[in-house]
Amino acid sequence: SASELKQIYDFALDLGRRAGRILIEGVEKRTGDVGEREEGGVGGGQREKMNAVDIVTQTDLDVEAFVKGEIERVYPGHKFIGEETYSAGSSKEYLIDASPTWVVDPLDGTVNYTHLFPMFCVSIAFVLNHVPIIGVIYQPLLDTTYSSLVGYGAWQDDGKVGGKRKRLPLVNGPKAVLPREAPKGCIFSCEWGKDRRDTAGGNMWRKVDSFVNMAAEIGGRGGKGGMVHGMRSLGSATLDLAYIAAGSFDIWWEGGCWEWDVAAGIAILREAGGLITTANPPANPETDPIEEVRLGSRLYLAIRPAGDSEGETGRQAQ
Ligand code: IPD
Repeated sequence: SASELKQIYDFALDLGRRAGRILIEGVEKRTGDVGEREEGGVGGGQREKMNAVDIVTQTDLDVEAFVKGEIERVYPGHKFIGEETYSAGSSKEYLIDASPTWVVDPLDGTVNYTHLFPMFCVSIAFVLNHVPIIGVIYQPLLDTTYSSLVGYGAWQDDGKVGGKRKRLPLVNGPKAVLPREAPKGCIFSCEWGKDRRDTAGGNMWRKVDSFVNMAAEIGGRGGKGGMVHGMRSLGSATLDLAYIAAGSFDIWWEGGCWEWDVAAGIAILREAGGLITTANPPANPETDPIEEVRLGSRLYLAIRPAGDSEGETGRQAQ
């Protein structure tokens, strides 16, 4: 029911903030603001998973254990899929089915975290019937929250700690619609992912091509003058989607994401009115409809909302 979903949304919002505090404690240990300076970088206990760019810190594990424990305590009947639980091998056979499922990245942007670049966050999604319907992204170093509740909207910040709740997208006026000649005039965002296998035509080289093409557009290929306004790579897929939902970024592409990297971002972007597809090339581009986004597709393309038609008067969560 609507009131049950609202309760789940409030719980997720609070959980994201509490989990974010654990990330901050990890930073403070490193910077010496509190306690002893930690050996081995922010987060401690850093080790490699698939390769040297796929890393996990003790903080990733601590945050996931905390979030999982709280969900199990409050919603014992729900399923849980988390980045570190999955990586640890305890749930390799998972499948997102129709049952109520929490999809959690305890720390999206782990590399950023270890380098103290503030683009890292806790990302929590509640998925029902395969669809992410509640999303919470908390970016603790900037104390910024992005959240959504299906049918009610998406917001930046939550007003609970004196912050002002702003409806997404934040764009208005000249930025309300995508430029007609897009990607001219757009900010394009693309992530590198973690696949570094040097296979011809493989994932990594497709991304390199995409970067090179966009860079050429920025440079004004063929003497046309700069087209794309800018190219960004934040290092956190879920935050890319939050920035697309806010209207700051215009287009985002990544191939290689896992469910937990995108689930909360998808929920938020869709409630803000943005578009996300699986980006699989259509067999017939003329006639095939845009493919509906599916968790687990790995390949995504997102486009920001055209503008906030409902404005501040939009339907509010009760
Ligand atoms: C990664 C980030 C990165 C994306 C990778 C993800 P993590 O997640 O979202 O931007 O390119 O595909 O795996 O490991 O920092 O949680």
